[in-house]
Amino acid sequence: MGFPDGFLWGAATSAHQTEGNNVASDFWALENRPDGFLPERSGDACDSYHRWPDDLDIVRDVGLNAYRFGIEWARIEPVEGQVSRAALAHYRRVIEGCLERGLAPVVTLHHFTSPLWFSKAGGWTDAGAIERFRRYVRAVRPILDGVPWVCTINEPNMLAMMANMVRREKRSENVAGAMPPPDPAVADALTEAHRAAREELGPVRTGWTVANQNFEAVDGAEAERDEWAWSREDRFLDAARDDDFIGVQAYTRVRIGKAGALPEPDGARRTITGWEFYPAALGNAVRHTAERIPGVPILVTENGIATRDDAERIEYTRGALEGLRAALADGVDVRGYLHWSLLDNYEWGTYAPTFGLVAVDPDTFARTVKPSARWLGEVARTGALG
Ligand code: NOJ
Repeated sequence: MGFPDGFLWGAATSAHQTEGNNVASDFWALENRPDGFLPERSGDACDSYHRWPDDLDIVRDVGLNAYRFGIEWARIEPVEGQVSRAALAHYRRVIEGCLERGLAPVVTLHHFTSPLWFSKAGGWTDAGAIERFRRYVRAVRPILDGVPWVCTINEPNMLAMMANMVRREKRSENVAGAMPPPDPAVADALTEAHRAAREELGPVRTGWTVANQNFEAVDGAEAERDEWAWSREDRFLDAARDDDFIGVQAYTRVRIGKAGALPEPDGARRTITGWEFYPAALGNAVRHTAERIPGVPILVTENGIATRDDAERIEYTRGALEGLRAALADGVDVRGYLHWSLLDNYEWGTYAPTFGLVAVDPDTFARTVKPSARWLGEVARTGALG
């Protein structure tokens, strides 16, 4: 058995990481702090705010049939209460651009960044936060006609961890160590915001996308693993039990021992981000999700690898898709696969990790399609993992 008819094959991006000059956002402010809190600024990013038609052409031309991208709240509402009609019209054009090219648009409403005014007013834990998010969703609702998949909040679990990380003002080199527990108040607020968005969107097919971390118990640490996983992942899956779909995002695994997260195994093959090269993460992730919230359709909204070696990207993706195909054969209800990312882009503080199927020249923004993009297009056309 292979991949079902109608399976979505696509590539994913987010607004802040690709559009460029997202100047009214909180992340832009963080990047531009005079103390150099982050190593690099996003700047023009991939200039996708202007070059989106080229991006969509590439997705279509390599043979994919879906594209995930984000709408940026800071552009829609750069000043509290003032909705930019021009920004709404822009995103409507992108949606129509997808539909005209036969690409299913998968639209994310919130992908880590918020308007600066929102964060300054206290962010997610402020008493007015849910109402503010609700108002944004209401503003965007009219341009979503024809969009088959809407993701409300991207990786709420990471967002809630980032809230803590930014507060601690310190970054860790140890990948597992870089994952503080989510702030429970932020986690609760995001859950509420998601529900409010679902309500506003009515019949639109809506879900949220959770970072799956393949928590693995080592040396009999099952209880510790479960406890660790609950606050960082499972509670966010549980919150999606009544949703139309759940987005699964998986890259690698995290091993948990009795004392918490362990470093990557000795001699582990690593990617640019430092994460262990672990293609089995995807199959495990969709299985875990299906067990945790049975009956909820799954869309793989992200999976990929930061590498300079494009042959390695193909190797990783083939491995990941083998795991996905096996899960499908076992009855897991997966509707599509969206590779992270279409473009080499701004990886939250640095351009070094190249996740793209397509390279972007930092000076001219010229796009160069990598062999992995054509390989994935071929998989989409034939269903074979050649
Ligand atoms: C998760 C995030 O949604 C995305 O923004 C990020 O670039 C990728 N994973 C890779 O880290």
